[in-house]
Amino acid sequence: MLHLHHSWSWLAGMLSVLLGLVPSASSNISTSRPNILLLMADDLGIGDIGCYGNTTMRTPNIDRLAEDGVKLTQHISAASLCTPSRAAFLTGRYPVRSGMVSSIGYRVLQWTGASGGLPTNETTFAKILKEKGYATGLIGKWHLGLNCESASDHCHHPLHHGFDHFYGMPFSLMGDCAHWELSEKRVNLEQKLNFLFQVLASVALTLVAGKLTHLIPVSWTPVIWSALWAVLLLAGSYFVGALIVHADCLLMRNHTITEQPMRFQKTTPLILQEVASFLKRNKHGPFLLFVSFLHVHIPLITMKNFLGKSLHGLYGDNVEEMDWMVGQILDTLDMEGLTNSTLIYFTSDHGGSLENQLGHTQYGGWNGIYKGGKGMGGWEGGIRVPGIFHWPGVLPAGRVIGEPTSLMDVFPTVVQLAGGEVPQDRVIDGHSLVPLLQGAEARSAHEFLFHYCGQHLHAARWHQRDSGSVWKVHYTTPQFHPEGAGACYGRGVCPCSGEGVTHHRPPLLFDLSRDPSEARPLTPDSEPLYHAVIARVGAAVSEHRHTLSPVPQQFSTSNILWKPWLQPCCGHFPFCSCHEDGDGTPRMPGL
Ligand SMILES: *[C@@H]1O[C@H](CO)[C@@H](O)[C@H](O)[C@H]1NC(C)=O
Ligand SMILES: *[C@@H]1O[C@H](CO)[C@@H](O)[C@H](O)[C@H]1NC(C)=O
Ligand SMILES: *[C@@H]1O[C@H](CO)[C@@H](O)[C@H](O)[C@H]1NC(C)=O
Ligand SMILES: *[C@@H]1O[C@H](CO)[C@@H](O)[C@H](O)[C@H]1NC(C)=O
Repeated sequence: MLHLHHSWSWLAGMLSVLLGLVPSASSNISTSRPNILLLMADDLGIGDIGCYGNTTMRTPNIDRLAEDGVKLTQHISAASLCTPSRAAFLTGRYPVRSGMVSSIGYRVLQWTGASGGLPTNETTFAKILKEKGYATGLIGKWHLGLNCESASDHCHHPLHHGFDHFYGMPFSLMGDCAHWELSEKRVNLEQKLNFLFQVLASVALTLVAGKLTHLIPVSWTPVIWSALWAVLLLAGSYFVGALIVHADCLLMRNHTITEQPMRFQKTTPLILQEVASFLKRNKHGPFLLFVSFLHVHIPLITMKNFLGKSLHGLYGDNVEEMDWMVGQILDTLDMEGLTNSTLIYFTSDHGGSLENQLGHTQYGGWNGIYKGGKGMGGWEGGIRVPGIFHWPGVLPAGRVIGEPTSLMDVFPTVVQLAGGEVPQDRVIDGHSLVPLLQGAEARSAHEFLFHYCGQHLHAARWHQRDSGSVWKVHYTTPQFHPEGAGACYGRGVCPCSGEGVTHHRPPLLFDLSRDPSEARPLTPDSEPLYHAVIARVGAAVSEHRHTLSPVPQQFSTSNILWKPWLQPCCGHFPFCSCHEDGDGTPRMPGL
């Protein structure tokens, strides 16, 4: 019986090979342990690149990856902001499971010198691949924390999360790194310090006047103290910009600071050099290299030869420069003979920022036909990002997959390819993409995806298997500012809770397969399945909630604040400054 079964399956296997049903290239990729090169852009919109429909932005290198590989058109990030999206990417889990959320409104880490970060008991795919004998490197942006208790414990450092080589920014590029008008922290802090200065200066003046006119009987001590504090606050408001630049805009190699503050005109060549030397050093493989671009986050640091070259201002120049960097990296792979043995992946951490705008000039990404952008939990523009897989000879060239997939899927995918196993002691929300990419499966394993805004679940998507419909249910949406503007202008990002959001009862329903722009909410009158869909998705949401357990919040007040004793500092605090090589003066491109 058994024997018979074997010969039949052997015969069927032979037949399907003869008939060309099983492409020989896809024989058994799950055991082939390819090199893995992950490319992630920062804040890039899905509508910014050629292969996703942009006709005026020149991104030939990324487009080439899609032409020769597989393009995902419904690739969804687990959050619409950097820190939580990247935490989910590296762990294959919703950020709420690792505590990369907060109940007090913080949604990303704010300082290098804060104690929050990716918890040490989370397992990244890098950790598993390292155990499986891969050389593992991270080059570029981290933004998942650094220290817990002292300036050098590096508890959240990439080298403690499975990478054996790190070069880049432990934090993130920010407008504040270049004193931009589009400021993340500086302008707000300056205003606060200035306000306190004015309060204390008025107190001091009143006391002086009172004392001189003998109307207020005080000693000189309170007068001197309030005057002193007023002077300190005034000085603080002048120095806070420089403090941020020194505290956050720095480069490290492994555990050593190499540049503080960064000199931007050199950053792009330095990153490319580092990538090339990693690839050369590890060409006998297998390796995992995660290139986490500083592009295309503000302040859009761009080299001279790309300035003014695109049709889309400084933002476009920066996107085209990043595409050129992708080309340089592909060339290095080619020169080292690694192209056919390397799986390449390209994505963005979340959608483009609509709020990054000054006057009529847009400094944020374009999310194509999708509504909303960076920072909005549920609207498609904040979470639908490019997703391209490239592996010549193994993955089919030019395949386009419209099934819902998640950035969290990269975790089980690369673990499988490396011959590893995903952790069994926790929930992993991603599903391996191998069967889908190879064409062995037509349907993605995701029936439901949940869309969070910080710790709040704002929306959910249901991929109805039998009909092929993709339903999207919104429970909460941000209130735009000004009303109807489609974004929260003047507020940085839209809020997740409180005054600035609308709770929908009954929820908003869209069918993304008919209305990808989420333009026409369905009603019980226009959609006969309305109540059934809302009920089915509601049940899935409560089931999902049952799988969550409370964990310490990494963005709590005490974890989010700047703690001077956690500040990485090269030199003598507070005079932190050093550079790996001596020459050159910083020059800001752009504004
Ligand atoms: C491919 O390799 C995996 C892991 O060793 C194995 O479980 C699977 O059966 C193999 N598939 C085929 C088609 O040989
Ligand atoms: C291409 O990208 C630019 C920059 O983000 C954007 O302004 C433009 O509208 C996009 N064009 C198309 C056709 O999507
Ligand atoms: C640090 O970087 C070098 C390469 O520059 C690498 O060989 C080394 O293993 C890295 N890791 C540690 C922990 O030193
Ligand atoms: C990590 O530790 C925290 C408490 O310290 C715990 O709540 C959480 O479940 C742990 N996570 C994992 C994946 O074990």
